[in-house]
Amino acid sequence: MKVLLVGSGGREHALAWALAQSDNCSALYCAPGNAGIEQCAELVAIQAEDVDRLTTFSKDNEIDLVIIGPEAPLVLGLADRLHDAGIDVFGPSAKAAQLEGSKGFMKDICKKYGIPTAAYERFTDVTKAKKFIDDNAIPIVVKADGLAAGKGVIICETRQQAYMAVEEMLSGAAFGDAGQSVVIEEFMDGEELSYFALADGKTILPLTSAQDHKRAFDGDQGPNTGGMGAYSPAHMMTADLEEKIIHRIIEPTVKAMADEGAPFTGVLFAGLMVVDGEPKLIEYNARFGDPECQTLVARLQGDLLKILQASAQGRLDDIKGQVSWSEQTAMCVVMAAKGYPGSYEKNTLIQGLSEAEEVENTIVFHAGTSKNEDGDIVSVGGRVLGITATGDNIGHARRLAYEAVERVNWPDGFCRHDIGHRALP
Ligand code: AMP
Ligand code: GLY
Repeated sequence: MKVLLVGSGGREHALAWALAQSDNCSALYCAPGNAGIEQCAELVAIQAEDVDRLTTFSKDNEIDLVIIGPEAPLVLGLADRLHDAGIDVFGPSAKAAQLEGSKGFMKDICKKYGIPTAAYERFTDVTKAKKFIDDNAIPIVVKADGLAAGKGVIICETRQQAYMAVEEMLSGAAFGDAGQSVVIEEFMDGEELSYFALADGKTILPLTSAQDHKRAFDGDQGPNTGGMGAYSPAHMMTADLEEKIIHRIIEPTVKAMADEGAPFTGVLFAGLMVVDGEPKLIEYNARFGDPECQTLVARLQGDLLKILQASAQGRLDDIKGQVSWSEQTAMCVVMAAKGYPGSYEKNTLIQGLSEAEEVENTIVFHAGTSKNEDGDIVSVGGRVLGITATGDNIGHARRLAYEAVERVNWPDGFCRHDIGHRALP
């Protein structure tokens, strides 16, 4: 099979690493990729949002399956275009990707189909939004409807703060069009975890759980980021909780999307809050998490290409039983450019990567990396490396991951030193 993977982050390096191991993969292309992906795929110089050129490339090169990593091309309709061209694609249509692209859409689906989530209302009018804030308890949560690069959620401790959030969002000042409609919802007090499941439009294939670390600095301090580290499985996951997540949240969502005429194909990444042992949906993403994906592929036992193709072709039922998960714990520690998630320097030299990979059970996934004219690895993004290790338990995985981090010689980078802290005694 000839496969095109779309994206350039750590998630995509992890996917490429696993796809390249498949016996069925005769050619693997990645657009635009990074310096790590180059070790296992042929890079194609097309940006992930360039729907026209990606479609043309796939047709011209007789690609059998396109795997879409990030959300932007999904929302832009890349999957629809490829589908129309008769090419199999892993990833939802633009309409189904609204589960991630519009918080209001997602909440309305939950309300209509009885899927547990925080109580909410949607607003486009400031006066009505303020009245709702007055009538409800604080803390209260204000969310921009559209994609806001992970910054569109404000947990408001006071009503004044909530008024300000709705004013800034609804005026367009905060997030442009993405904020001109808001969701205001009940604050849920509990423990967070993420759960991943594949869907093929009608059937689901449950995958596994993970836990992310969103803040930039140790002790969950500092600004929100795309994720500074993750581990899988999540420490509070139990068989009973997994059952509830699958039967009360994931399955009803896939059925709802089919009933709504927008069948969901691809991966559902559910952000969940566990309140008194009961899972409630915080949000959906229509793609794998980054860096959660790095920990998932490290534990996956099975042929990733076969699995994603089955999702794309509506055949998930056929491959149930061919997917299992290592009992080990995987941990990914992200190394980012100093300054991230604010502004940071680019083209800084990174050394010691092969020494890092010599640590047992450790893989160095690249994110924002490139090769300079001398063939050296340099940073070109905010999140730059994802050092991923597997171990017998979280302490073991953590020891290996940080041993590898120590071997990376990158004076312009930083990482958190406490990934997995909630799971450790
Ligand atoms: P989201 O972008 O929807 O994942 O929200 C970002 C973060 O805000 C989540 O990971 C939660 O930590 C938090 N959050 C969102 N909605 C709620 C809520 N209703 N109650 C408590 N925390 C929330
Ligand atoms: N790590 C969170 C995300 O991928 O959205």
